[in-house]
Amino acid sequence: MQKLAQQAVTRDRVEAVDWTMETRHSVRRFLPKPVPRSMIEDILRVSSRAPSGTNVQPWRVHVLTGESLASTVKALLDRVNNPEGGFDPDPIRPVYPAQWTEPYGSRRKKLGIDLYGLLGIARGETAKMHAQMARNFQFFDAPVGLIFTIDKVIGESNFIDGGMFMQNVMLAARVRGLDTCPQAAFVHYHRLLADRLGFVEGEMVFCGMSLGYADPDAPENYLWSDRVDLPEFARFHD
Ligand SMILES: Cc1cc2nc3c(=O)[nH]c(=O)nc-3n(C[C@H](O)[C@H](O)[C@H](O)COP(=O)(O)O)c2cc1C
Repeated sequence: MQKLAQQAVTRDRVEAVDWTMETRHSVRRFLPKPVPRSMIEDILRVSSRAPSGTNVQPWRVHVLTGESLASTVKALLDRVNNPEGGFDPDPIRPVYPAQWTEPYGSRRKKLGIDLYGLLGIARGETAKMHAQMARNFQFFDAPVGLIFTIDKVIGESNFIDGGMFMQNVMLAARVRGLDTCPQAAFVHYHRLLADRLGFVEGEMVFCGMSLGYADPDAPENYLWSDRVDLPEFARFHD
């Protein structure tokens, strides 16, 4: 196995992996085209090669398609669009910091401006903004909705294990011609999802994800977010 891994370093393979990372981006409108079950299984199986501290593999994933997807979307939208409903009253964990500091606040703001700009949503159009936010809970029309959970015991200290599994899923999907959108939005409905999907003791939602074929005509799918330059995030200690 070790020998095989060494032989595997070829220019083609480097290019394929770089291409996969470079062409992954968050897609927020999908075609109704189904994803074969065998392809979903292949993606999840290969993604489970993700490393985890001491190989505990604390992730689980709930795969929603067909009727289970439709009924979960309906239950979520009933809550999202009900002024009395709203997010779970006591979130399982905070999704984002209570107060944004720089440079994160500005980067976050730019993403919002760019997305709303593509969608033609002007400042102050709160109903349209709400409708766009609510599309998260329709999995952006994707034929596959993924809910990633982690054992609470591990999650509190090592979310990173789950994050690496998710990244593998996004790349394994991309190289098969599929697209994804990772979505922390689902954390707000941990309790609803726990009831519907029958979580085991200690299972907590850490992210959701839409998976499917991107709609090539959707303006929001043309959002390519910026990245800061290498010297801004890497410091070499020679
Ligand atoms: C942990 C995590 C949570 C996210 N949650 C959401 C979300 O709830 N809704 C959404 O539309 N995008 C969400 N995103 C997508 C980010 O906005 C996106 O990754 C970021 O803007 C970079 O753009 P890119 O993925 O297109 O490269 C999330 C991404 C990550 C990694």
